Amino acid sequence: MTNVFVIGSAGKVGIRLVRKLAARGHRVGALHRKREQESDLETAGATPIFGSIRNIDAPSLANIMHGSDVVVFTAGAGGAGIEQTNAIDGRGLEIAVEAAKLAGVRRFLLVSAFPEAWRERDNSEGFENYIAVKKLADAYLADAELDWVILRPGTLSDEPGTGLIKANAAIPYGTVTRDDVAERIVGLIEEPAVRRSIVELTNGNDPVSHAIAKPRR
Ligand SMILES: NC(=O)c1ccc[n+]([C@@H]2O[C@H](COP(=O)([O-])OP(=O)(O)OC[C@H]3O[C@@H](n4cnc5c(N)ncnc54)[C@H](OP(=O)(O)O)[C@@H]3O)[C@@H](O)[C@H]2O)c1
Repeated sequence: MTNVFVIGSAGKVGIRLVRKLAARGHRVGALHRKREQESDLETAGATPIFGSIRNIDAPSLANIMHGSDVVVFTAGAGGAGIEQTNAIDGRGLEIAVEAAKLAGVRRFLLVSAFPEAWRERDNSEGFENYIAVKKLADAYLADAELDWVILRPGTLSDEPGTGLIKANAAIPYGTVTRDDVAERIVGLIEEPAVRRSIVELTNGNDPVSHAIAKPRR
């Protein structure tokens, strides 16, 4: 049983992850920012923790995450604008990393994005800022003395999980279901040997449970 602290727990990836973790017997602390999300998180099997990554400093967040074994950061501004993206995907990630260090939580999993995501569809200022902020967040975490994994899923879909993915340090850009992303995160939590790695992820042909444990030749 692992104690997992999820930031962004009520999001579309987050809630799927919470359900899967609870079903596998892990204990989940679920940071969420709206009161009405509490009952869904409880039903999903988590302990809801009300708070916003915008309104907290690292020492306070460290107190909340103290005793966790793993932090998962899957929060994001979700297209709410440049200022929000900078505050949540950017500064929020930095606060969470500093909090994990203060709390002595060594393992930190970040849900990031392919740097080349959506190039053919959206090159607005807001989207370019999002891509830049995600990359700087990756760089911030990669510089931390933590057992980090940066997971870069392709474009996310709400289709049912396929159980089949492609995952490696560099793969062609594509799409992936949120179910399969959540399943892969569970795998990473249960495979602590995978550390200080960037993992790009799309749907593919490899069973999600073996995709990282068995390196490709
Ligand atoms: N969309 C894509 O195709 C795509 C592709 C690759 C990577 N990603 C990244 O994958 C991650 C998860 O995606 P998703 O689809 O699950 O996104 P999502 O449904 O928008 O979930 C993001 C979560 O972050 C939470 N959040 C926002 N501001 C917060 C704050 N101040 N404090 C605490 N939590 C806060 C949101 O809270 P509320 O529920 O209250 O809004 C939401 O629950 C994001 O980082 C996203 O950038 C997305």
